[in-house]
Amino acid sequence: MTPHTVVAIDGPAASGKSSVARALARRLGYVYVNSGAMYRAVTWAVLQQQIDPRHTTAVLELLGIIKIKCGLHDGESTIEINGQNPTPFLCDESVNQNVSTIASIEPVRRTLVTLQRRYADDHDLVMEGRDIGSVVFPETPYKFYIDASAEVRARRRAAQGQNDEITARDRRDSSRKASPLVIAEDAHVIDSSNLTIDGVVGEIIGRLKLKGLQIPD
Ligand code: DC
Repeated sequence: MTPHTVVAIDGPAASGKSSVARALARRLGYVYVNSGAMYRAVTWAVLQQQIDPRHTTAVLELLGIIKIKCGLHDGESTIEINGQNPTPFLCDESVNQNVSTIASIEPVRRTLVTLQRRYADDHDLVMEGRDIGSVVFPETPYKFYIDASAEVRARRRAAQGQNDEITARDRRDSSRKASPLVIAEDAHVIDSSNLTIDGVVGEIIGRLKLKGLQIPD
């Protein structure tokens, strides 16, 4: 059990959780960790090596030899693979299309969950993903599930200029065997369809206060 505070934010693609988690972390003075970026970075590395993401044995061989370095910059998580920064490529269409396949491979999840938990050794965190409240930090009392209607989510992705088949990705993320996207039993669910980022952050802050968390002015 970590002595640090963890606020877990889960939800489907384009539900607004990244913007909310980042803004919330700033407001609280916590570190912001984007766990999806880690799955995306491994996917990028697999594609770079021209490995078929469905070829689990080859993916695991690669996982055994790559060096994944997680760090922090300006209070936000960073990731390097073999000394390279994959950030500019993490939202490429090829990564969008294949990340759910890579994220369904159990040893990949085990490796990344270990790295995710390490952030809480030294920092209070806001971490966003799919299984943060259910698997990565099940003991945290601060769990949120951010949702939005399929139409609103598709519109948000399109406005970001991204080609991302979110419905297919959500179906794969929710139906996989290993740590599927679920609403943790004790999570507070927020529908962000008609809310601004500030509105969602405000609702989370209110809930955290109710639970007795000290919030800086
Ligand atoms: O949050 P995102 O859309 O960038 O995440 C990309 C993919 O990574 C998502 O489709 C599923 C996977 N993911 C996961 O399986 N578990 C997490 N904690 C975060 C992301």
